[in-house]
Amino acid sequence: MADLRTRYLGLELANPVVPSASTLSSRIDTLKRLQDAGAAAVVMQSLFEEQIEHEEIEIDRMLEAGTNSFPEAITYVPELEDYNIGPDAYVRHLEQTKEELEIPVIGSLNGASKGGWVRHAKLIRDAGADALELNIYYVAADPNLTSAEVEQRYIDLVAAVRSSVEIPLAVKVGPFFSSMANMARRLVEAGADGLVLFNRFLQPDIDLETLGVDPTLHLSTSEELRLPLRWIAILRGRVDASLAATTGVHTWEDAMKLILAGADATMMASALFKHGPEHVRTVVDGIRTWLDEHEYASVEQAKGSVSQAACPDPVAFERANYMRALVSFTSPYDWRIAPSEPKA
Ligand SMILES: Cc1cc2nc3c(=O)[nH]c(=O)nc-3n(C[C@H](O)[C@H](O)[C@H](O)COP(=O)(O)O)c2cc1C
Repeated sequence: MADLRTRYLGLELANPVVPSASTLSSRIDTLKRLQDAGAAAVVMQSLFEEQIEHEEIEIDRMLEAGTNSFPEAITYVPELEDYNIGPDAYVRHLEQTKEELEIPVIGSLNGASKGGWVRHAKLIRDAGADALELNIYYVAADPNLTSAEVEQRYIDLVAAVRSSVEIPLAVKVGPFFSSMANMARRLVEAGADGLVLFNRFLQPDIDLETLGVDPTLHLSTSEELRLPLRWIAILRGRVDASLAATTGVHTWEDAMKLILAGADATMMASALFKHGPEHVRTVVDGIRTWLDEHEYASVEQAKGSVSQAACPDPVAFERANYMRALVSFTSPYDWRIAPSEPKA
């Protein structure tokens, strides 16, 4: 039987299937179900910058009691009451998770500005996290901000967290950089041990009746796999870091493709919400069966065998593929197809 072990962020995982950061980690019983189903590690739901800011504003407010110098605190409070989990509760939940689970537990911080992260990275380390995932979720909407400034912001954040904790550090980012490969390399140079590709940005919709902005979250589908698949394949061997894929991993076939492209870990959220924690088992079993049937001895042997560097047709991952794909698509509107004769 194929050996499913993989190394991710310097950790030895039993297989490459890891539930990604989500509310699935908010209850210990769900986490245990994920572990029992074969999850090799788990990424905890993030501690969000907004939660950290809220706590810091509260502290400032206590210090400045009686003044009204922090009006933003007043607007934050009602929104965050529903969260019911601040940094302290987050750390306690992480400690308990570490006590109850045997698999590696990866803490997660989510935000885009510098404040508070370093301190909270240390708290997550002290709670026993085996690694930390830093999710830089930033929509660069300010026209005055150049791409170089935005990129520097990412690098500064990674460097600040890197210098504060020594546990393995993964950085989760979106795909919207002018030069993704260069950015990946710089994130690694700034101290990332691994990259998690890619963040799935919420795309707000407009409600035509209320004219309100509808931020409802829609779960992903396997169709979204191709973006991380391409970039894992391109980056494999080009950056000196672990690679994890997130967005669109639903089936064992999805996970297997990513391993062939070069992923060290394949992460899932939407599929687990759709099918339940036990779906992990189907994915792990599917990977094992495919490897056995195709005579691969291990995940390590299969890993990266269809990366861009290993592929007989490397341009297939770049622009050349684009024209070929367009040309191979035929439709009744195509000039290559003679219009049908008008019926008599
Ligand atoms: C309900 C829900 C909660 C999530 N919470 C977090 C989070 O706390 N931190 C984070 O980095 N990503 C979070 N994500 C994003 C997922 O980790 C994942 O990157 C994204 O959903 C794409 O993967 P998928 O196609 O498997 O869903 C969340 C996703 C969902 C659906």
